[in-house]
Amino acid sequence: MSNLKIGLFGYGCVGQGLYEVLLKSKNIKAEISSICVKQKNKKRNIDTSIFSYNKWDILNNPDIDVVVELIDDAEEAFSIVSESLKRGKAVVTANKKMIAENFRALIQLQETYQTPVLYEAAVCGSIPIIRTLEEYYNTDYIQNISGIFNGTSNYILTQTQQQGKNYEEALHAAKIAGFAESNPTLDVEGFDSKFKLTILLNHTFGLSVLPKQVLNSGIQNLNKTDTLFATRFGYQIKLLAQAYKTDKGVAAFVLPHLLRNTHSFFHIYNEFNAVQVEGIFNNKQLLTGKGAGGFPTAAAVISDLSSLIKNYKYPYNKLKQNDLHLDNSETIAIYLRYNKKEIMNQLKFEKIYSQFEQENHTYCIGEISIKEIIKADINKNKEVFIASIELPLYQGSDLPVKTEQILSIH
Ligand SMILES: NC(=O)c1ccc[n+]([C@@H]2O[C@H](COP(=O)([O-])OP(=O)(O)OC[C@H]3O[C@@H](n4cnc5c(N)ncnc54)[C@H](OP(=O)(O)O)[C@@H]3O)[C@@H](O)[C@H]2O)c1
Repeated sequence: MSNLKIGLFGYGCVGQGLYEVLLKSKNIKAEISSICVKQKNKKRNIDTSIFSYNKWDILNNPDIDVVVELIDDAEEAFSIVSESLKRGKAVVTANKKMIAENFRALIQLQETYQTPVLYEAAVCGSIPIIRTLEEYYNTDYIQNISGIFNGTSNYILTQTQQQGKNYEEALHAAKIAGFAESNPTLDVEGFDSKFKLTILLNHTFGLSVLPKQVLNSGIQNLNKTDTLFATRFGYQIKLLAQAYKTDKGVAAFVLPHLLRNTHSFFHIYNEFNAVQVEGIFNNKQLLTGKGAGGFPTAAAVISDLSSLIKNYKYPYNKLKQNDLHLDNSETIAIYLRYNKKEIMNQLKFEKIYSQFEQENHTYCIGEISIKEIIKADINKNKEVFIASIELPLYQGSDLPVKTEQILSIH
């Protein structure tokens, strides 16, 4: 493929970023022929003759070889991507929800119509993780992948821990800075990170699951007592997506995580993202960069376009080889802050290391299986904050804190 003619869907944050970045990119032979958007009466910052309001104008245009899908509607996006592939038009998309929910169908469509879909921009914006997993990690056996996949949540957490803001103040600051949308649910409750993790499970372990099978809980219920607890014991709270091999398969979940200053993610602040991959032979490797925003995301789209010119498609070798299953029986260490004691009856802990009860801060540290947390449907409970935690606790010196010491800190 050479000199690509692009049909672009969406001219929002990323679509506009792509338009500008493409004008400045001298090394790629590609031009946007037409842009399909939704609202006819919306003001645009470029000549409106390039816009169309009917998807079939692009889909049925034989001169267009590539569809770049950058809309904010996952269902319609899947329809656009499917119709493009059926017509032999290669696709580049940034829509993580659409990809995560339709992964198997997308593989099938690519096979049937022998036309590729690339989506580096869908996971951690400018960080080149998907091709790294497909190409560089094609031979090493990955044991563990984890990351800060959501810039909005990381920005909020940085504000609470570095600026002393409470959650609402930090969320407000994130909206003012342009990092949080008016409805930030998908970001702060861990769904956005989960869509990305679900996609990466395919590329890391060859494991295909639906997002609804994977545990997620976010930072929406974080309060000052949680931040205080973290600071007191030298932790940073980060919203992490994690997946690792267990004896029975692969454990995967998205939870806030209390991590220590020896952890690679300790100093990843504000809107930055990071991904750490641990292979048997490579040991740990860390990639970090901007996970969102018009230009960083557009840069990943351009990189995919340039790969298409070289006839690149994902080999999906791990998917072809693997028979791994999701292991929700895996036990993890958690910090649970709660108000009502009933939650302790709902959650079946395997071990409890400590329980502390005071008027404004009641918490428990213990071990519990992922499936028990899923069963308790924790996201519905506004009075609970749950985080995975690195144990043992350390206070001040390097000496681990014993249970009775923990109970007497407040
Ligand atoms: N923003 C980021 O930093 C970022 C990062 C990584 C991935 N992504 C992903 O990239 C995609 C786009 O995000 P965004 O932030 O650019 O969204 P956005 O700013 O909300 O823009 C959405 C665009 O999609 C258009 N649109 C919506 N429904 C459409 C339809 N049915 N047909 C044609 N056009 C339609 C809208 O048209 P109108 O202009 O007419 O309203 C608008 O131009 C999403 O999947 C998002 O998850 C975003």
